[in-house]
Amino acid sequence: MFNRLRVSCALAAVVLTGAAAPAVAQPALPRVHMVATGGTISNRDGGRLSAEDLATSMPGLERAATLTYEQFLNVASSQITLEQWLQLARRVNELFAKDQGLAGIVVTSGTDTLEETAFFLHLTVRDPRPVVVVGSMRNPSTLGYEGAANLLEGVRVAAEPTARGKGVLVVLNDEVNSARDVTKTDALRLQTFRSPTHGVLGIVDRDRVTLFRDLLQRHTAKSEFDVTRLTALPRVEVVMVYQGATADVIKAIVDLGAKGIVMAGAGAGATSGDQNAGLDYAAEKGVFIVTATRTGAGRIAPNRGGQGGPGGPNGPATVTPAQQRRRAFSVSSEDHIPVKARILLMLALATTSNRDEIQRIFSEY
Ligand code: DGL
Repeated sequence: MFNRLRVSCALAAVVLTGAAAPAVAQPALPRVHMVATGGTISNRDGGRLSAEDLATSMPGLERAATLTYEQFLNVASSQITLEQWLQLARRVNELFAKDQGLAGIVVTSGTDTLEETAFFLHLTVRDPRPVVVVGSMRNPSTLGYEGAANLLEGVRVAAEPTARGKGVLVVLNDEVNSARDVTKTDALRLQTFRSPTHGVLGIVDRDRVTLFRDLLQRHTAKSEFDVTRLTALPRVEVVMVYQGATADVIKAIVDLGAKGIVMAGAGAGATSGDQNAGLDYAAEKGVFIVTATRTGAGRIAPNRGGQGGPGGPNGPATVTPAQQRRRAFSVSSEDHIPVKARILLMLALATTSNRDEIQRIFSEY
């Protein structure tokens, strides 16, 4: 399960025995560990590539890092369960805790829900060393497979001292994006991973990795989320807003035992008229409602109601007791997209049921 690639040692031996000049001690290569979870990067026709296949697929690796690896899963990203997320976060924390000399960790993933896995790790890995999530858009049986190239770039970023303290990073297509900001924007194109509001964090060129900025929101080493003993995450569902959307779907989610609902609101957080009745029902049952936007970008201010809701910009002037209750269970997603707001709400609800605390969490992460 845990293997070390000897490529770099073999090369060093060749250099030492073949050289006429006196041997000069070379600085040790940074050590990077790869945790493979599957996805298109491994999805070869006739059988998936193993972690070992991936680790031996990168010409030039011997100049970048000494790589160890393990097979954690080998599935499509959308098949990873919440329990497996918790196990993965624990495994990454354990790898760092046990090996202080490890430079960084690369996690391979399918791209469909890669941004969710990356953001979950961004909140639950509690170490400043880089964790880099890597995938590919073309599978290994396809002409133009870019998995090995993305993986090598991911290893280089994981080995990069300036990547320390920047949280979990997503590397594909020569670009580094923050797990907090990145989203898959196209079903097929190679340039699919984008950070719509905040932009790319860095680039990977042949000569070096260049990172352009820091992240001011809390993450990794500064995160308060400790999943060491967490066995399950509270149920949180995402509900899309569209014209004619009904309250009964929201009521059903509440009756199924959800602890939170993220509304993928229209524009700055508007809901359909009928959905408001469902949200009043949710608040009555003590279910938290986080308002996000379905537009893909933009910040929802913490106005305790969302646009159109009580206290919101287009909300009613007088507030009834039901609306007051709704307000007491309403939180703004700030600039988190709905699927990421869901992850943050699950982790928040695992530690608190205080509305102001939950809003603080959304404002700080
Ligand atoms: N698109 C891939 C993913 O996100 C699915 C391919 C596969 O590994 O089966 O995981």
